[in-house]
Amino acid sequence: MTELLTVSYRSVARLSEPDTALQAILAESRNNNARFGITGILLFDGTYFMQTIEGPLDETSTLFTRIVNDRRHDDVVPFGVSKIETRSFPDWTMELIGPETASRIVPDMADFDFTDRRLSQVHKTVTALAA
Ligand SMILES: Cc1cc2nc3c(=O)[nH]c(=O)nc-3n(C[C@H](O)[C@H](O)[C@H](O)COP(=O)(O)O)c2cc1C
Repeated sequence: MTELLTVSYRSVARLSEPDTALQAILAESRNNNARFGITGILLFDGTYFMQTIEGPLDETSTLFTRIVNDRRHDDVVPFGVSKIETRSFPDWTMELIGPETASRIVPDMADFDFTDRRLSQVHKTVTALAA
């Protein structure tokens, strides 16, 4: 069986034209992720990104390296890195949660509590919102 990895991070967005840049990020993400078997969520509150990517071990770590080096954001803080048996977001090649909802789900982005427990709360809330 293919080993699965999940990686999350919070970063600071550096987008000159947020709407256009976000659409571009989303389009390339969905396209690439479908190809590499990666799924996940991307929260953007207007200032910060928080993303979870999950998929095959090699593809996911390679993608994370690409994302870290992307100049459309910086100050990338990874957390919640672990091998998993099942995906949290099997149906989403990349689901964008925009500013209004993101700032409701994570009002504490600036001094986020980078614990597994908090991450799992965020994941549960996002899943519940979609249901
Ligand atoms: C906040 C953020 C999230 C991103 N998420 C993804 C993603 O889920 N999948 C992806 O392929 N690229 C993602 N990217 C883009 C990558 O950093 C990189 O530009 C892209 O994978 C390169 O694609 P290419 O090799 O097709 O040019 C993201 C970029 C940013 C700034």
